Amino acid sequence: MNKPFEFNQGRPLATARAGVTVTKVGVHLGAEISGVDLRSPLADDQFKVVEDALVEHELIIFRRQDISSNNLMDFGRRFNELTVHPFAPNEGKNAPELIKFRNDEKTPPYGTDVWHSDETFRAEPPMATILVAKEVPQVGGDTMYVSMSAAYEGLSDRMQQFVSGLEGIHDMKPFRPLFGKSEEERKKLQHFELMYPPQLHPVVSIHPVSKKKVLFVNPQFTVGINGMNENESRALLDLLFRQALVPEYQFRHHWEPHTIAMWDNRSTQHYAIHDYYPQRRYMERVTIKGGPVSGVPRADLSTVRRLKYVAPAGVDTHGGHKPH
Ligand code: SIN
Repeated sequence: MNKPFEFNQGRPLATARAGVTVTKVGVHLGAEISGVDLRSPLADDQFKVVEDALVEHELIIFRRQDISSNNLMDFGRRFNELTVHPFAPNEGKNAPELIKFRNDEKTPPYGTDVWHSDETFRAEPPMATILVAKEVPQVGGDTMYVSMSAAYEGLSDRMQQFVSGLEGIHDMKPFRPLFGKSEEERKKLQHFELMYPPQLHPVVSIHPVSKKKVLFVNPQFTVGINGMNENESRALLDLLFRQALVPEYQFRHHWEPHTIAMWDNRSTQHYAIHDYYPQRRYMERVTIKGGPVSGVPRADLSTVRRLKYVAPAGVDTHGGHKPH
C-alpha cells in the first residue's frame, strides 16, 4: 500500500489571489492557472501568484493563451534570463533562446521520449521550462510529468539514508550521436565535450525555494554514481530511475492548441510521448536560467525526515482485503 497522506493538507483545491486562480489538478504535481492574459506583462502581484504556484505545484498549466514567440520570451524573462540550448536547433541570432519543435511526417520527434529533467549535463541546469502548444495532433502527443520530490518521499527510510550525500554523474551523452564521423565533426564534438564536461550533482537535491528534498537523477543524463563501480552504479541508478515510473507520482498532460505548460525543472522530470508520429505537432519552448544544484549532506540520520503514518484505531489499512 502507498503511504497515506492528508490530501492537500485540508486546503481547498482552488485558491485566488490578485485575480489569479490556481486550481490543483494533480495529487503530487499540476495546477491550472486562470485569470491571466500572457499577451501582456503581468502585474507584480499576479506574477508572484504564478511564481509561488510553480514552486508549490511543480507544474503549472495555462489554457487558451494565444501568445506570440515574443510574449513567450517576455513571460520567461520575468523569472530570470533565458538560456540557449547548446544542441537543439534554435531561431538563430534573432532569438537563440527560442526552440521550435515542428514535428511531422518528414521530421519525426527526437530524443524527448525519455524521462529527463532539462539539461542536467550543465553545471547549472535551467530552473524551469515553458512549452506552448501551437498545433497539436488529433490524438496522442501528451506529455508525462513526474514529481521527483514525491518520488524521493516514496523511498524507504533506509534508501533515503543510503542515497543522501551521493553524487550523480551527468553527461551530454544523448547528443553525441548528433555529430558525424568526419574529422570536422569529431573536432566539433571535442569542442562541445570541453565546454560541457560531465557534472556531479547531488543525488538528493534540496529545492532552493521550497526546501523539499528531490531525487535528482534521470535516465537521459545520469550515467553513474561518483565513487561506485559500474555494477553498483547501474544497479542503484536502475532502482532510482524506476521511482519516476510510479504512476502515483505522475501527471499526464493533454495538449490543446494555445495551452502552455511550465515545469519546475528542479523538482520534476518529463517524457514527451511520441505516439502521434506522423501527425503534426508544433510547440515552442524556452528555458530559464537556474543555479548550482545543492544537496543534502552525506548520509546523516538526522537529515532524513519521514512522516510516519500511524493508522488511527479502527482504520483498515488493507483497503478491505483480508486473507481468507
Ligand atoms: C521537452 O522534452 O522539452 C519536450 C516536451 C514535449 O514536447 O512535450
